[in-house]
This record gives sequence, C-alpha cells and structure tokens, in this order.
Amino acid sequence: MCGIVAYVGPKDAAPILLEGLQRLEYRGYDSAGVVVSNKGLRMRKVKGRVADLAAVVPARFKGGLGIGHTRWATHGAPSDINAHPHLSGDERIAVVHNGIIENADELRAKLEADGAIFLSETDTEVLSHLIARTVKEADSLEEAVRTALKRVVGTYGIAVIDSERPGEVVVARNGSPIVLGIGEKEMFAASDVAALVRYTRQVVHLEDGEIAVLRADGFNTFASDARETAKETLTVDWEAGHYDTGGYEHYLLKEISEQPDTVARTLRGRLDDRFHIAHLGGLNMDARETRSFRRVKIIGCGSAYYSGQIGAQLIEELARIPADAEPASEFRYRSPVVEADTLYVAISQSGETYDTLAAVQELKRKGGRVLGIVNTVGSAIARECDGGVYLHAGPEVSVASTKAFTSTAVAFALLALHLGRVRDLSPADGRRICDGLRRLPDQIKEILALEPQIRELAGKYAESPSMMFVGRVRGYPVAREGAQKLKEISYVHAEAYPASELKHGPLALIGPDMPTVAIVPDDELLDKNLTTLGEIRARGGRVLMVGHRTTDPKLADDCVVVPKNETELDPILLSIPLQLFAYHAAVALERDVDKPRNLAKSVTVE
Ligand code: F6R
Repeated sequence: MCGIVAYVGPKDAAPILLEGLQRLEYRGYDSAGVVVSNKGLRMRKVKGRVADLAAVVPARFKGGLGIGHTRWATHGAPSDINAHPHLSGDERIAVVHNGIIENADELRAKLEADGAIFLSETDTEVLSHLIARTVKEADSLEEAVRTALKRVVGTYGIAVIDSERPGEVVVARNGSPIVLGIGEKEMFAASDVAALVRYTRQVVHLEDGEIAVLRADGFNTFASDARETAKETLTVDWEAGHYDTGGYEHYLLKEISEQPDTVARTLRGRLDDRFHIAHLGGLNMDARETRSFRRVKIIGCGSAYYSGQIGAQLIEELARIPADAEPASEFRYRSPVVEADTLYVAISQSGETYDTLAAVQELKRKGGRVLGIVNTVGSAIARECDGGVYLHAGPEVSVASTKAFTSTAVAFALLALHLGRVRDLSPADGRRICDGLRRLPDQIKEILALEPQIRELAGKYAESPSMMFVGRVRGYPVAREGAQKLKEISYVHAEAYPASELKHGPLALIGPDMPTVAIVPDDELLDKNLTTLGEIRARGGRVLMVGHRTTDPKLADDCVVVPKNETELDPILLSIPLQLFAYHAAVALERDVDKPRNLAKSVTVE
C-alpha cells in the first residue's frame, strides 16, 4: 500500500528514487512523485505509473538528497495534485507518507485558520504544513518532525526533507513500515526492502514510534521521547533478481511457476526421517508447552486467511486439537476472549498487514501466545510474535498471492505434524505425512505441465459474467481461494460456497450463465460431491471439475486431473490449477494481471 523511497549520498538521488519506486509499484500504483534537494526543492509528480513519472523527471534533476512515493489513494482521487510528495507553503519542507492521519480534518482547519493554503485533498499535506511551522523553532529537523507528530493521530511511515538542511532525511514510523538501508557512504530508506536490495543488503527496521535521521555517513534512531535507540542490523537474503520477471510475461506466472522450488524451500531441513517429526526451531516452545494447548486459533486476511482454513483442518486432522481460522480484520474488532491454553497463529506474507498486526498486538496485550507464519524476515508481524515459521518463499511481487499461499499451507502441515507427534499422531502417520510433503514439489511440476489445458479452459469460461466455486470440508478453502484469485485479477464475479450448502440457497443462482468450478478430491466425500455435480447439471449449470480423476460427462463438462497425495495434503495441490485458471482468465480478458485495479500489495492501512 503506497511506497516510500529516500536517498542521501554522493550520487544523484533521482535515478535511485525512480528505480526504487519501480520496485515498489506493486504496493500502490495510481500516482507517483519525487522531490530532490539542490539549492531548493525540485519536484515532479504525476497521476499514473512510475514510468509516467520517469518520463517527466528531467536529466537536470541533480542532487544527492531526495524522497519519492508511489501512491494507492485513500484521501482524494488519484491526480497530479494529490500525488506525493507534498510541500509546505514556503516550499521548504517536503513529505511523503504511507498510512492515514485520522485527525487530518481537524488539523487542516487549524492550519488554514493560521494562514496555510492547501493544494491537495490529501491527509498528508497537513504534515508538510505542520513541520514547516515546528521547524522554525527546532534545533534539528528530527526535533521538528517529532514535535509535529505529537499532534498527529493515525498511522504513518513518512520521509521528510528540509531544503535548508540538504544533508539529511528524517523518517518516522507508526503502524506503517520503514526500513533503513546502509550503503557505502550513502543511506537509503524505504517502506519495503524491495526498493533497497539493488543497493544494499544491510537493513535496519524501525519500530513504531521511532524516528531516524539519515546522513550520507550514517544514521541515528530515536524513541518518541527523543532518547537515542540502539538498532540491530539485519542482512536480507532476497536478491535484486527476485524482483525481476525472469523472462515470464508477468510476475504472477513467474510466482505460480516457482512453487516447486518455494515449497521445497519451506520444507528444507525441517523433516526428520528418524522420528517422522518436523523441526521448527523458531517456535520457541518446549515439548511441555507444545502439549499444553487445548485449542488453536488462526488469524490472517484474504488469501492468508484461506490458507489458515487449510491450516486449521490440518491441525485438527493431524494433531486432533480443535482449530479454526478467522479473518484478523474481524477478530481484532470483536473483543475476542483470549485464553491461556489457546495457541494463536498469525499468517502474513508481507508481515506488515495492518489488521493482522493490530490483532497480534491485541492478543499480546491480553497475554496470548502468538506464533507467526510469515514470509518477510524481520517484518513487523514477525517481530511482534513470540516465535514462528518463516516461509522462505522469496519476495512475492504480484499483488495476488500464490506461492505464499501454498508455502503457508505447507508450513501448517509442518506445524500440524509437530503438534501431532508430541500428542497422539503415530510414527506411521508421521512418516506418511513426511513422505507426502516430500512428494509435493514434483507433483506441483506435474500440475504446472497442465498449463496448456488450463489456459484453454480459462479462455472458455472467462466470458461468463459470474462463476461459482464449491468444495466440501478440505475442498472448501480451496474453492474460496480459487474464487478470490479469479475475482481479484480477472474482475469476473465469483462466489465460493461449501458444496453442502448449495442446496440451502445459492443453487437458485445456477443456470447456463453461472458455471461452477467444483473441487472434488478422491476422499471420503467423493460420492457426496458427485451428487452435488448432478444437482448443478440438472439445473443447466456447466461444471469444471478439479480433482483426482475424470468423471462421467453427465456430471462435468470439463475435468482437470491433478496428482493425488495424502488426503490431508491434497488441498495444497488442488489450489494450483485454480491459480493458473485465474491467471489465464485475466490474460484472456486483457487485465493488468500484476496490478489489478483498486488493490495493492500489503494493506498497511485499516
Ligand atoms: C490475495 C491477497 C490478499 C492477501 C492479504 C494478506 O491474493 O494477496 O488477500 O493475502 O491482503 O496479506 P499478507 O499475507 O501480506 O498479510
């Protein structure tokens, strides 16, 4: 959600900012801007993509200090004026901001009464005017920013420059990520390491409430009470190449195709052949504690939540602990009862989703034990949790989640195996699951080889105005995720229902214009699912069945057959054809696959 980049050093800032913004564009992409300081502030900002901005930044934009932004609109429509940076009236201060200033209207009224003239509709512009007022009396830009932020209610990651202090950038964080990048006599900051990896791997994450001052020769960080804080430098192992499309037409296809590798990476070093257990060193729980939980509650948003539903089933089946998943965005608002004998698990690819982070913070406040299943090392959610499992899936750039989804489900299988084997999962079942997990990467390759068939089917069904996705029990989260993928990238309306619920209402929708994608694994519910297909076909509905065998053409118009694994692990494999289906439907409909309308990667606002 919006991207920030900042640079101070001996090089020209503008090309570095533009390059960084391009890397962050997946986070927000309706407008973009940069400002560079060189005997005054020079700014360009435009509605549109970073490429549109690059086309209007002149070569004479020299200067080794600058900040840039790519926007996902919250206050005010996408436009040149509403794009960041925002300047103070005297053009001394420039600010870029991610997040939401909740008391912006009130501050704006006060500033206007004091003579400030606002140009944009954004909440951010209050920050440039506020800082312009505090900077006059402050000894430093950092002090001016700190004083101004005391009046602000809301969430922010900001970067600020002052034309009268051309050697420093000040950044601050509250609820919206800021990462510092340490270079050779140069410093960077960004809202995401993606913007930094081309220049440095040495990063420092700011905590909420912290402010940092960056100069070419280093940085200092301060708590909100101005006390200097000590920071740990992390080395990130994501490479610049991870952020390229690698010869694929879209990041999404690249990330779908990476899944044999990403799943193997999630598993690497974690399966034990001797005792048929999972080694999950990061859980920070001894065996006694592991045995003490009577319930597991999983939280996450969107696709992360659906992978959590797969996780809940795995935990119930393998560890026989009652488990369920709930959207973190709902959980945090309903004053949940937090129990000492419940294990809470938060899921997040980015590790920055605000709703999930806020839910974790609420749990911690109430004494809950929270594990994180997270992709981004060192992210806010990872830092907030008591322990957890990293996915090691590499950066996910396309807005729609795919490889993080499957890796999360695999991480849950490992967690379920771990919890099960210290309870009553037998060694034989442990071995069965370990062997099944090992087979996944090759089986995913087999599914990827079905791409030509799935492309053709996607072309055939993509013209439907609406599609139904159904599955029973293990198949239901798969159906939900399939519908989610289709609607978010192709904009085809898709509904997901438990197959068992169809006749309790939604069957009324079924007809020739509403085809159904049915998830029909070879499990104990096969016959029930086939009966549902008969009911759909009897109402003139077309059926695309995704399962482990073909079926009578009377029951399904088309079948995609995927390899069978252990029943508990089948949902992981059944999800993959649906990713390819959504991808090819979106391509057939000429959608902007990697940057679907209205969406952004990492939802760091409420
Ligand atoms: C859907 C999608 C979103 C995310 C959700 C949570 O394809 O990507 O639904 O899954 O916004 O994001 P993370 O996992 O970063 O917390």
